[in-house]
Amino acid sequence: MNNGHLKWSFNLSSRMAELDDAHRELEDLYDRILQACESQEPGASVRERIRSFLTYARWHFVEEETLMQQVDYGGYTDHRAEHQRLVEDAEAFIDSFGATPQAEDGPAIVSFFKYWLVRHMAAQDSDLVKFLNTLKSGDC
Ligand SMILES: [Fe+2]
Ligand SMILES: [Fe+2]
Repeated sequence: MNNGHLKWSFNLSSRMAELDDAHRELEDLYDRILQACESQEPGASVRERIRSFLTYARWHFVEEETLMQQVDYGGYTDHRAEHQRLVEDAEAFIDSFGATPQAEDGPAIVSFFKYWLVRHMAAQDSDLVKFLNTLKSGDC
């Protein structure tokens, strides 16, 4: 168990560089939230990093949904609904802290976004990657 940092260890390599790059970028943006929380930086910094994370996540979700449609992925509807729910959950979580997160909110923020990201990548994204890799293997 590490101290909150994520490693590229989800076995998610998709043989599709853009998708892997986007997931790594999400991990990096999560790490920036973690660093801000651990360093006891002012809450505004934590909030700004959360905003950056969610802005990128929204962009990534749209890109991933477009990809799923292009390859006629059977899990598209459920995966897209999960993306929407993740964004709604994150917005509600952020709102619960009011204008500015406090230093004592750090552990809850880190746990929330770590679980948020890991759970989705280990489940829905992993299933998508397996499907994409099947296509890339020429099995279709
Ligand atoms: Fe996804
Ligand atoms: Fe993804």
